[in-house]
Amino acid sequence: MRSLSSAVVGAAWVAALPIVTLALSSCVTPGSPAPGRASPPAGYVASIQPPSVADLSPRSYQGIHNVVAYRDGFISGSAPEGDEGFQTLSAMGVRTIISVDGAEPEVARAAAHGIRYIHLPIGYDGFDEERKLQLIRAVRDAVKDSPVYIHCHHGKHRSAGAAATVAVSLGWLDPQAGVRRMHVSGTAPQYSGLYACAASAVVLASSTVDAVPAGFPSVWKPSGFVKGMVEIDGIYEHLMAIERTGWVAPADHPDLVPVAEAGRLADLFRLAGQTEYASRRPAEFGTMLEEAQAAAEALEDLLATGAADTAKLSTRFQLVAASCRDCHAKYRDQDGNKGVRE
Ligand code: HEC
Repeated sequence: MRSLSSAVVGAAWVAALPIVTLALSSCVTPGSPAPGRASPPAGYVASIQPPSVADLSPRSYQGIHNVVAYRDGFISGSAPEGDEGFQTLSAMGVRTIISVDGAEPEVARAAAHGIRYIHLPIGYDGFDEERKLQLIRAVRDAVKDSPVYIHCHHGKHRSAGAAATVAVSLGWLDPQAGVRRMHVSGTAPQYSGLYACAASAVVLASSTVDAVPAGFPSVWKPSGFVKGMVEIDGIYEHLMAIERTGWVAPADHPDLVPVAEAGRLADLFRLAGQTEYASRRPAEFGTMLEEAQAAAEALEDLLATGAADTAKLSTRFQLVAASCRDCHAKYRDQDGNKGVRE
């Protein structure tokens, strides 16, 4: 998945503002939700005063920090720390937390405080249209019942970018005000993709939001490809330890069989090439996976001889390492590639 077009990333989004504003004024429909405080569940009295959209700096509470409102009842901040964090949120009347962080949310701990989680991770370079719509739908539906808290890790960059984009899309803030709230959260200027998401957002018709499939996960499941990469990484670490002990099983890991590790690595690259994730990428991506597989097989073949010289083995292992680096540089670490965890 790709994030917002790179054309709007960087300084270009500033130039895009007047157009966005025009689109905004022509897009406001009578069906748009009215700004105002989301009402807590009947009979509930918030015992901790939540932050307000009028605040000009972030607030800090027990167990949550960098807390900024993007509308009264729609709050961005850091990941809750321990029971204290969830207690604070519960006392503010929050019943839904949305995490845009990659880490697995503390679903059980939240539930113990009467709060449910929705997990929709995003990257530091912004998020694509599908994720944007999911966030908008999740927030719109949840604020009907109670205040909503959205967090990443520190609550400065990703949750702020998501909160501003949602608030603009639901007609609660105009794009400039959304960007100003991100400044209050302390979003660093280099996260141009996050700023671009908020600055280019327009008010959506309720029918557009209604069309987004609801039923969001409390824990986002990474794809088979990402799981494969995690396993590839584990095998790679084994091979590094094996190399350090002169291409034999390390003393603290006597069960490792060097040739089997290399074989497993080759196999994992082959399996990664068969995932849906790989099929949606350019043909070159598949070729790079095949090359990585071939490099691992070459290492496996040399280990299988049982008497290879260690310098030669290390040379082959370096080719494996180069395959990781080359592909990550091109397909993982660039803008637009590391948006949503698929
Ligand atoms: C042909 C491309 C390619 C090759 C070769 C490759 N990777 Fe990856 N790797 C990726 C992509 C793309 C991602 C990002 C997946 C995502 O999050 O969407 C990734 C993600 C990862 C991650 C992060 C997983 C997570 O938790 O998100 C690790 C660790 C990793 N790779 C290790 C390795 C190692 C070690 C090697 C070499 C032995 C390797 N990769 C070779 C493409 C590749």
